[in-house]
Amino acid sequence: MRWARHAVPAAVTALAALAARDLLQREHALRRNFPLLGRARYLLESLGPELRQYIVAGNNEERPFTRDQRRWVYASAKRQNNYFGFGTDNDIEYTPGYPIIKHRTFGRAVPASTPTIGHEVRLPSAKVLGAARRRAHAFRPESVVTISGMSFGSLSGPAVEALNRGAAIAGCLHNTGEGGLSPYHRHGGELILQLGTAYFGCRDDRGRFDLARLKDVVAGAPVRALEIKLSQGAKPSLGGLLPAAKVSAEIAATRGIPTGRDCVSPSRHAEFSDCDSLLDWVELLAAETGLPVGIKSAVGDLDFWTELADLMRDTDRGVDFVTVDGGEGGTGAAPLIFTDSVSLPFQQGFARIYPIFAERDLHEQVVFIGSGKLGLPDNAVVAFALGCDMVAVGREAMLAIGCIQAQKCHTDTCPTGVATQNAWLARGLDPASKAVRAAHYIKTLRRDLTKVAEACGVEHPGLIDTDAVEILGGRTSATPLREVYGYRPGWGLPSAADRQAVVKLMSTEAPQGGSAPPSPTAQR
Ligand SMILES: Cc1cc2nc3c(=O)[nH]c(=O)nc-3n(C[C@H](O)[C@H](O)[C@H](O)COP(=O)(O)O)c2cc1C
Ligand code: SF4
Repeated sequence: MRWARHAVPAAVTALAALAARDLLQREHALRRNFPLLGRARYLLESLGPELRQYIVAGNNEERPFTRDQRRWVYASAKRQNNYFGFGTDNDIEYTPGYPIIKHRTFGRAVPASTPTIGHEVRLPSAKVLGAARRRAHAFRPESVVTISGMSFGSLSGPAVEALNRGAAIAGCLHNTGEGGLSPYHRHGGELILQLGTAYFGCRDDRGRFDLARLKDVVAGAPVRALEIKLSQGAKPSLGGLLPAAKVSAEIAATRGIPTGRDCVSPSRHAEFSDCDSLLDWVELLAAETGLPVGIKSAVGDLDFWTELADLMRDTDRGVDFVTVDGGEGGTGAAPLIFTDSVSLPFQQGFARIYPIFAERDLHEQVVFIGSGKLGLPDNAVVAFALGCDMVAVGREAMLAIGCIQAQKCHTDTCPTGVATQNAWLARGLDPASKAVRAAHYIKTLRRDLTKVAEACGVEHPGLIDTDAVEILGGRTSATPLREVYGYRPGWGLPSAADRQAVVKLMSTEAPQGGSAPPSPTAQR
């Protein structure tokens, strides 16, 4: 066995070199965290389509995100070819509830045909945030896609930094989540500052909300709006607990809490206790900061919404935006019964609350933001048709920066460094390169939304109406979205003035497609 005497050390040296390369490269967090072993995952992923033909689940069987959906996000984030060949493998004909978008043959807008065209298109909101209530710092968000609130604490520092830098590159807003504004949120991306029940980052030593601290935080960072978190689709009515072991010095400083003790978020706010006092607080925050102020909530019982809308109609107080989070939404950790069964899924929840505002003529004054798997273009288009002005993407943005849907976010052992405070695992995530991926993903989503809008004959996804979407009832029936949810004509669209303004904006933005040169006999 003389050959073995040379071959074994050579193999060991080669493996050691490969491991060192894995450790030092920055592109793949999994390989950085698990040298050599991590390669197996990429190998299996590349062989996946062939292997699955014989042994494992299909392209549409995994949840929360199917393999096809994840492949689309990964390819978009890497600016690889994100097209799919051979035709759909969704069971369109036999899946009740499947949405179909209806293209228009001779529409006003014409989609450009090259796949990459439109990547750099700006897709601003059709409504100006805070304009209706004349807030001092009202503004038109540059991007209809925003990054949803996910705290530093549930996500690692490098993950938050990657998202913030990505938001800066893509020109979109980044919601801090309820864990406060950390140093990782200060990398150029503009922010929506979320205020949860614990008022992290703007509380005093006794845990009480502290207006002066809030104003300091707002003054020291590019905060463009405030979001009061009432609930989250995956765990409505629940507070939260960050165990003492995870309360690092950095997290303690960001949140304004002591180290080494469990960090509890109560389940209710202390600053208000009903819709009336909520609106008082909204107006106080808006007056003190000049910022637009909104709420985030899941949808369950509708009493809250009717009372809120009644008060907005009958008094001179109101929220500038409403973020509706679907029950299918994500969380760092929550009891199974809450993630699985409490609060309505996005589409049904949103379609119940939008009419409450519309019946009181408030729908054109409020900016509606949707979340709950709306980082996928087909879901987002339905959300826009129902009346959303913007979408907030959470887990899809996590996928873009390397999450592999291992679903261990609650264990602090996230293998890709996205949702962990373990220093070794978090180190694997390189914020600079992942920021570019987050930005690519957001830009691609915007491009696809623009293309679909144009296929429907309009310039902007906010102009897609409920008649442009039908919901299949199986093989032989389909109902327009408007009928499914009892929308009146015009519901779901911005005001006439906002429509006109956004058409003007988009006409200078989106490159239009066209036809080949006409023949001499063409009927024009
Ligand atoms: C790890 C993680 C942490 C989250 N933290 C917050 C939070 O601090 N505040 C909040 O309102 N929602 C939080 N969410 C919910 C998301 O903001 C979002 O509403 C939800 O995941 C639905 O969007 P998605 O389907 O695009 O992920 C969190 C979600 C995840 C996955
Ligand atoms: S634990 Fe899994 S699902 Fe959670 S962020 Fe990490 S890779 Fe993604």
